[in-house]
Amino acid sequence: MWRKFLITVAVVAVLQHILTLVYKMGFHKRIYQHYPGPCRIIPDIDSGSEDIALLSNGLALISSGLNPVHMGFVLDDEILNHQGNIFLFDFNHPEKNAIKLKFTGKDFDYTRFSAHGIDVYEDKKTGAVSVFVVNHRRDHEVIEVFQFDHKSLTLHHKKSVIDPIMRSVNDVTAVSSDAFYFTNDGYATTFLARNLENFLMLAKGNVIYYDGKKMRKVVTKGSGNNGIAVSPDNKFLYVAHPVGMIINVYERNQDATLKHVQVIDMGTGPDNIFVEPGTGNLWIGCHSVNHEIMGHFQNKTMTAPSQVIHVKWEDPTRATHGYTLSEVFLDTGDFLSGSSIAAYHQSTKGLLIGTVVTKLAYCQVNAF
Ligand SMILES: *[C@@H]1O[C@H](CO)[C@@H](O)[C@H](O)[C@H]1NC(C)=O
Repeated sequence: MWRKFLITVAVVAVLQHILTLVYKMGFHKRIYQHYPGPCRIIPDIDSGSEDIALLSNGLALISSGLNPVHMGFVLDDEILNHQGNIFLFDFNHPEKNAIKLKFTGKDFDYTRFSAHGIDVYEDKKTGAVSVFVVNHRRDHEVIEVFQFDHKSLTLHHKKSVIDPIMRSVNDVTAVSSDAFYFTNDGYATTFLARNLENFLMLAKGNVIYYDGKKMRKVVTKGSGNNGIAVSPDNKFLYVAHPVGMIINVYERNQDATLKHVQVIDMGTGPDNIFVEPGTGNLWIGCHSVNHEIMGHFQNKTMTAPSQVIHVKWEDPTRATHGYTLSEVFLDTGDFLSGSSIAAYHQSTKGLLIGTVVTKLAYCQVNAF
């Protein structure tokens, strides 16, 4: 009797787990193509444009060349051989397309650069621009800190931040020229262990705060903690969970610890979050059909959809609580495959849409 009961409970639990996974992979989804205005592909980028950071003068820095081998994906050989780069795009001169930035600094090894999340911090007094880039260096997870020099189009390497707490770093968001928050999207880094962790949906991700000297866990668990961003007033922190299909909203305490205040139910896989300066509204590069992005990683020629979701706050003075979700852009994958970020420039109404491992698109936003 008991045996039968326990077996039934176990079977139901396993079935429920498998059905949840199948649901989150989006096999049932139907998607419809639409664009906010004319869009075109920016030439000469074909190794990804995973994350984008915007400066107040309309310049965008784009991270390219991600090789996420530690995340347990089966990867296309081309992805395994990606070279990391940072590209520069000027929203005031979109016709100039994107250019590759140069690097200086003896402690930075360009040949081992695999760029993932990126953020910038502008010092209002000195005008100095600090650039933070997640680097999956083969020997360790690193956050590289650079100083950006616009005249010489160079990133001067300042330091490599390394700590054992950095397991599988995904994205970074700066709150000063020294301090930042970053996400670990998981724990295991070997292929088998990471796939088991992903399959069991273990909450092994977290959020770490670095004050310029030491690291501190500020969110102790989470599943696939991915894109991270702060509100323009530095009061709120947003963390995207692609497989969980949600964005967690946290309020920052005085001591940089976080208080969970809200969950945004996305119904799609949010990757990186762009916070619009001024309004604090969010623009999010999403994976609308999660299983297709996995197929795209295995073989780059197999496309995955690209989707941009806009989160408009009801009360612009408080970037949380009431909101409206709109789909700004959806492409089934032939034009742009596997979107991961969307950065919007207010005065030119330009929108850059980046992808995990392929191209970069530019759209003129007329309506959405
Ligand atoms: C990738 O997919 C294309 C078709 O979409 C196929 O022709 C090609 O052989 C595949 N490559 C590999 C390495 O499986």
